[in-house]
Amino acid sequence: MSEKHLSTELIHTGDGRICRELGASLSAPETLPIYLTSVFAFDDVESADAVYEHESDGYIYSRMANPNADAVSKIIASADGTETALVFSSGMAAITTAILSFVKTGDHIVASNVLYGGVHDYLSNEVKRFGIETTFANFAKEDISKLIRPNTKIVYVETISNPLMDVPDIAELAEAAHANGALLFVDNTFATPVVARPHSLGADVVLYSATKYLGGHSDIVGGAASAKSSLIDEIKRYQVLYGSIMSPSDCWLLARSLRTLELRMKRHSSNAVAVADFLSAHPGVEKVFYPGLPDSPSHEAAKRQFLGGNFGGMLSVNLKGGARAASSLIKELDMIQFVPSLAGTATTVSYAIKTSHRHYHPEELDAIGIIPGQVRFSIGLEDVDDIVRDISRALGKAQWI
Ligand SMILES: Cc1ncc(COP(=O)(O)O)c(C=O)c1O
Repeated sequence: MSEKHLSTELIHTGDGRICRELGASLSAPETLPIYLTSVFAFDDVESADAVYEHESDGYIYSRMANPNADAVSKIIASADGTETALVFSSGMAAITTAILSFVKTGDHIVASNVLYGGVHDYLSNEVKRFGIETTFANFAKEDISKLIRPNTKIVYVETISNPLMDVPDIAELAEAAHANGALLFVDNTFATPVVARPHSLGADVVLYSATKYLGGHSDIVGGAASAKSSLIDEIKRYQVLYGSIMSPSDCWLLARSLRTLELRMKRHSSNAVAVADFLSAHPGVEKVFYPGLPDSPSHEAAKRQFLGGNFGGMLSVNLKGGARAASSLIKELDMIQFVPSLAGTATTVSYAIKTSHRHYHPEELDAIGIIPGQVRFSIGLEDVDDIVRDISRALGKAQWI
């Protein structure tokens, strides 16, 4: 019988030291357990100091590093074909921390004018507070090298743009950025490493909203950045300062999801091709935005850069009946839910001008082609016949045809 009191027993019995006691005799678990601990304990000051000084391996405090964050980062770096990666509390945390790591007052960024609305808002408004200027451009039409200035530090683009599904020539952008000493940042959220590997085309930092396909089940909010070690070391310095880390439980869920990323992306892609074909032939549809369609202006760039004949699971459509048709379609869909996100297992629909892109000025939206008659589908993993049936039935019931 221990001489300690109950409250003390409750606190100390079976604490983290049990791992050391079990040590060699414990069979290795097949999957990494969740290291749900904010901090790690040391036997003495010298061994703590050695870890702080990188003289020995080990963990100190979970804002700085945690085994689950390291494990999932390794999966992402390897999928992206680069040296290392970091995971974050959200896609926005990954993107804003990575940007802040390479700019200072007086610097300049060149960015595509079609971006996820939160990033557009950040680059249009927030970085201005620090004296950083952003030039937005149509990357398909304008010569980016003409927009790069001596103080340009970052060129920023999405592999498949949200929500217009434009596909830029990443190698060309990398060349323009590097010729002028800037870094190319590519948000690969819509593509994932299964569809495109921007590092192999010259990108310097690849970014993700892991909330989307990497997580893939609509149950975590997270982000990731991958790059060569020297760049990730720089980003990590700011991540530790700002504390934008992913929790060990979410890291574990993300690692589990990544095991099936390739399977999922292939099915998302093949289902999306079938839905894009169906919508292209529908009399109520004016235009389908999907890089897998042979008549898409992005098809050639996508074929050149994308992997395994996959074009991703995201597509948008302009409806002939405008805003009324869009809201009517959203209402009439039965299996397909309206959610302001994407990339889960289920097919979903969204309405960019009132959700992800509501921070754009209406004139800007109009100029780039994000219009009231446009809806965006995230094509899921269901049997494609059921997806097409729901969309077809909803289009048929909508009053405007
Ligand atoms: C392409 C893209 N990048 C970044 C983000 C931001 O990610 P999060 O919502 O995880 O912060 C989103 C969110 O929708 C997105 O669609």
